[in-house]
Parts: sequence; structure tokens; C-alpha cells
Amino acid sequence: MIYFKFCTFISVLLIFWANGVYSDKTCAARQIEGQSVVCVCNTTYCDEITRARPDGDGAYIAYTSSKEGSRFKKIFGELESYENDDIFKTVLTLDPNKKYQFIEGFGGAVTDSTALNWKNLSDPQLMQYLIDSYFSSTGLEYNVVRLPIGGTDFSTHAYAYNDEPEDDVNLTHFNLTSEDYDLKLPMLKAIFEASSTSVHVLATTWSPPVWMKSNHAFSGKSHLLPEYYSTYALYHLKFIEMYTALGVPIWGITTTNEPVNGDLGVTKINCLGWSAEDMGQWIANDLGPLIRNSTFKDIKILSVDDQRPLVLYFFNLMVQEHPECLKYIDGVAVHFYIDTITPPAVFNTITKNYPDKFIMATEGCKGSLFFEKKVQLGAWDRAVAYFTDILEDLNYNLVGWIDWNMCLNDKGGPTYVGNYVDSPIIVFPENGEFVKQPTFYAMGHFSKFIPRGSLRIDVEQSKPLLSKSVDNVALVTPDDTTVVVLYNSESSERKVKIRLNDQQATLTLEADSITTIEINA
Ligand SMILES: *[C@@H]1O[C@H](CO)[C@@H](O)[C@H](O)[C@H]1NC(C)=O
Ligand SMILES: *[C@@H]1O[C@H](CO)[C@@H](O)[C@H](O)[C@H]1NC(C)=O
Ligand SMILES: *[C@@H]1O[C@H](CO)[C@@H](O)[C@H](O)[C@H]1NC(C)=O
Ligand SMILES: *[C@@H]1O[C@H](CO)[C@@H](O)[C@H](O)[C@H]1NC(C)=O
Ligand SMILES: *[C@@H]1O[C@H](CO)[C@@H](O)[C@H](O)[C@H]1NC(C)=O
Repeated sequence: MIYFKFCTFISVLLIFWANGVYSDKTCAARQIEGQSVVCVCNTTYCDEITRARPDGDGAYIAYTSSKEGSRFKKIFGELESYENDDIFKTVLTLDPNKKYQFIEGFGGAVTDSTALNWKNLSDPQLMQYLIDSYFSSTGLEYNVVRLPIGGTDFSTHAYAYNDEPEDDVNLTHFNLTSEDYDLKLPMLKAIFEASSTSVHVLATTWSPPVWMKSNHAFSGKSHLLPEYYSTYALYHLKFIEMYTALGVPIWGITTTNEPVNGDLGVTKINCLGWSAEDMGQWIANDLGPLIRNSTFKDIKILSVDDQRPLVLYFFNLMVQEHPECLKYIDGVAVHFYIDTITPPAVFNTITKNYPDKFIMATEGCKGSLFFEKKVQLGAWDRAVAYFTDILEDLNYNLVGWIDWNMCLNDKGGPTYVGNYVDSPIIVFPENGEFVKQPTFYAMGHFSKFIPRGSLRIDVEQSKPLLSKSVDNVALVTPDDTTVVVLYNSESSERKVKIRLNDQQATLTLEADSITTIEINA
């Protein structure tokens, strides 16, 4: 009996310890010359971050990451009573009564290359550290994963399912491949084990088998052959059925990755071209009815899944030509790559014209543009590119943001078409380590503190004349805390007051930093 109680006591202690109530593990920083730091994880050490509810009414915890090298540095505080001394201060006044969109979540993609790099770490503890870094309560608490249906450019070769026999209209030979069985499914299982919330999987096809396509190739200008419209819909249903049967339920699908690429034929990436008219027809006549009549009728269908400058045009045209497709579409998916050339106001138009459709960012990374360096270790400017985009998207009603490959090797691959890019985690299996880039923490400042079901609230900013505004977003969480994410783009410290009801917090933001504050109020 005493022995039993002693064990209970020890296990309670262990649970506390495992939940990190007592301590975070700090970043094992490695300074990169001319850049910020990366945090190094090896077979015996990996940094951790815990999020505890601020203790008591009016208490808050602020977490800061900066160019200088802070990574989730914690500061504890209490709201003070309101003082009206605004004139030379930057003040953010929160209005929890003005509520906007519901947050679905944040995450990354389990591409073949992501899973391959993860597996290539070989050491079980190191592999676990990578999964925990993204998904566990000591990590970023990601709750969304994008999952390719078949291959992408981040595979070691070109393939789809049911590549053979050709013209198999009923897909009688549909089966998953070794990439699923040996790489992606094991990684997804490890993710589900590590995660304390439900992880929503969003699946996307880059290219179907070449026999369904006008150009009989995985990339290049193409469209779906009309005789295979219903087959391509069935292709999605079969994938959903198989993954579900193997213990990985699918939350949603998009209606083909970057349809305009394949329509223009401008890339070597696996693709399928769609005009907006044809896609509207396929959704209205084939995909929509098949999915909504199946066991999987509640799956979310997200359309467009292409760059910001195209979404409004493509979506409007699709709906204009085939209004029935709207009946099947839950949301609009958008990619990050050329966001800076289009103002986010396009999202307001979508929200206004289609108030029952949500908008979600489903892919983004740095290093993809021809003039960019591929992998850049320690790049703070890349973290800035991530979090300024996420801040902007959230302020224009997006419900979530999904990063691209969750880990790549030091070249930014493997990618069988040579489309090397950067990733928030870069693996070095030969050294028994992986490193967490500044972009990893950029994601975490949102994913960890904005759980699914949070609602964005209104913020008004007043600031001294001529000083820059502080980019921000504020939300209330399902646990009734208030979260504000703030970016100080100045190369010096900056004081900001956050006002909520009749109280305020005064924060000193580090130079070039991002701060998330969670307030128990
Ligand atoms: C792992 O990293 C920790 C912290 O930086 C360090 O103390 C330890 O020596 C490293 N272990 C190995 C095997 O490199
Ligand atoms: C495909 O399935 C349908 C419905 O089950 C059937 O009528 C049709 O003959 C099949 N086509 C081929 C080529 O087997
Ligand atoms: C699919 O492939 C797996 C692994 O090779 C095999 O065990 C399974 O029987 C196949 N299923 C079908 C339906 O062919
Ligand atoms: C189910 O399929 C039928 C026949 O194809 C179609 O008319 C109907 O609209 C579908 N149901 C839904 C909910 O899409
Ligand atoms: C796996 O790691 C080894 C070093 O341990 C490396 O030589 C190999 O290229 C890696 N494989 C891939 C696909 O990156």
C-alpha cells in the first residue's frame, strides 16, 4: 500500500515534470555569422517551451523571440490599473466585444521529404524530439497537417497512385505506396501520439496518374481528360478511405494544388492544370456529389489552393460559371509565395461575397524564389517574413496558416526536380542533430498560443506621431484568456501599453522582436 502510494506520488511528480510546469529547457543556441541563432537539438538535448495559464485574475505571461537571440523568453506580470497618459505612448486598446473569425489552426506539411528526413535522423530520441518540437505540449502544439495525395516535388521520384494499369477508370488497382507505408503513415502516427489536441489532416493532390492527363506527364501544361472527371473524384475518395482505414482520418481536401501552374505549364513541379470554369464543373458534378454522398460527407472541401493574387479572380469565375459548386465548398485555400505583391484586401471581398466560406493559408516557405538563397541558417528576416504574413492574414479573417515541409536536409531537399527551399527545421543526420530556425519560433508564437476555437477580437492602436505602428493581432481563447501577438520592427526597444477593460499591461518590446502575451482576463 505504501509502495503503491509512493509510486503514485512519483508519477504525479513525473506528470508535472512532463508537463513542464517546473521548467522550460532553453535554446541551445548556435550563432550563425551575420545572422541570428539556430537552436540545436541532439540525441540528448532539445529545447522545450511550456504554456501555463497565467495564474490568477489579471496575471499575464509574455513570451519573446528576437533577432538578438531570445527564444520564447518568458516574463511574468500583472495588469495595472488604467492610467491616462497616452500622448507619447503606443497604446493598443483591445475590444473583446468585437469578435471576428474562428481559428482552425496552424501546422506544416508531411511531404515525402519531410518524413524521409525525419526517418533519416535514425536515433529514436532525436526523432521524438522533432515530433515533440512541433506537436507536443512542450513544443509548438501544431494542430493541422497538410498531406500530399501521392507525390510532389518534395519526393525522390515522380509518382501517383494507380499509375498502372492505364485507363483504369474505376481505379481497381488503387493502392498506397511505400512512401505512405514506410514514411508518411509512421510519421503521422508519431504525431497523433505526441499531440494532446486533435490534429486535422488536410490532403491535396499535386498530379493524378499521367493517363488521366492531356499531356501524359507529371508536370507541364495539362488538363484532366474529360472522360476521367469522375475517376479523379473517385481517386480522392479512395485515398480518404485508405488513410482512414489505416488510422489517419482526413479532415479536409483541397481541389488540386496550384491549378494555375498546370494551366500555364510554367513549372517542373508535379501539377494538374485547371481553368476556373472546368474546376467549377468538376466540383459541382463529380467531386462534390461523390464526397457528400459518401461516408465521408463531412470532410471540408477547400478550393483554389493557389497564390493570393489569383484567389479572388479564380473563385469568382468558378462560381459565376458553375454556381452549384458553392454548395460543396467550405473554404478557399491560399498560398504564401507572392503575397507581398497583392494587398490582403482581396480577402475582405471574399468574406463579404461569401460569408459562409472560410479562408485558410495552406502553403508557404522561404527560399523558393529564383533570387533567394535556398537554406539560410539563422535568418531572422525569414522569421519576419513568416510572422508579418501570418499577422496580416489573421487580420484579414484567415482561419489558419500551414507551413510547407516541416523539415528538410541542409540543401533544402530532397526534391527530385531540384526545387530546393528552406524549412523551419534543418536536419544534419551525419552529426546526430537538427536545428530549429528562426521561422520555427515565428510559427510557434501563433500555433502554441492560439488554440483551435479562438476568436479574433478588435484592436485599436494609438501611437506618437511619426512612429511606426506595431503590427499586432488579438484573440480570445476557448480557455477565456486573451492573447496578443506583437511585432517590434524597430532596431531599438519599444514600450507598448496593452489596454483591456479598465486595466493595462506595459511591455518593453525587445529590438527586432516578436512577443506573444497571454492575459488571464
Ligand atoms: C547535446 O547538446 C547538449 C546541449 O547543448 C550538450 O551539452 C551535449 O554535449 C550534446 N550532446 C552530444 C552527444 O553532442
Ligand atoms: C466501372 O464501374 C461501373 C459501376 O460499377 C461499371 O458500370 C463499369 O462497367 C465499370 N467500368 C469498367 C471499365 O470496368
Ligand atoms: C496495398 O499494398 C500493401 C503493401 O504493399 C498490401 O499489403 C495490400 O494488400 C495492398 N492492398 C491492395 C488493395 O492491393
Ligand atoms: C448524391 O448523388 C446524387 C446522384 O448523383 C446527386 O443528385 C445528389 O445531389 C448527391 N447528394 C449530395 C448531397 O450531393
Ligand atoms: C540520410 O543521412 C545520411 C547521413 O547520415 C546522408 O548521407 C543521406 O544523404 C541522407 N539521405 C537523404 C535522403 O537526405
